[in-house]
Amino acid sequence: MVNVLFVCLGNICRSPMAEAVLRHKIDERELSHKILVDSAGTGDWHIGKEPHEGTRRILDQNKISYANMAARLVSSEDFQKFDYIVCMDKSNGENVRKVPGGEEAKLLFFMDLLPEEELREVPDPYFTGNFEQVYDLINAGCDVLLEMVIREKL
Ligand code: 4NP
Repeated sequence: MVNVLFVCLGNICRSPMAEAVLRHKIDERELSHKILVDSAGTGDWHIGKEPHEGTRRILDQNKISYANMAARLVSSEDFQKFDYIVCMDKSNGENVRKVPGGEEAKLLFFMDLLPEEELREVPDPYFTGNFEQVYDLINAGCDVLLEMVIREKL
């Protein structure tokens, strides 16, 4: 199994959106027995909650499931389990580094999947309200990430 973890701040907007979108693409490619996707946050405010209404709405519009998803914190065990840890912005990366074991963790940054984009961090729709913009970035970036995982690990 190849394990992919998306990380954002609250684990209710960006990283669960990426988790749902990548899992959908993996299902379409019939690779769900080979690649596992999860997401986590570095802030504890929303632990146990389902994705944000804005994330749910855009996933519904695109017929992508977010069943059984609940916000959780990044933990030290994640650094052992996951082959890819993908942070949505630079501060997520800094926060992951503060989790025990996180100093050494190999991190990727989502926008490095989309080098042609001027934006270098995935904007936080919790504050911008622009879930469509985030969906477009996440959809494009997950295509690149899936090809990368297939090429590197399968
Ligand atoms: P996310 O967005 O990191 O994309 O899930 C946020 C969600 C909640 C908060 C901040 C960002 N918050 O401060 O509660």
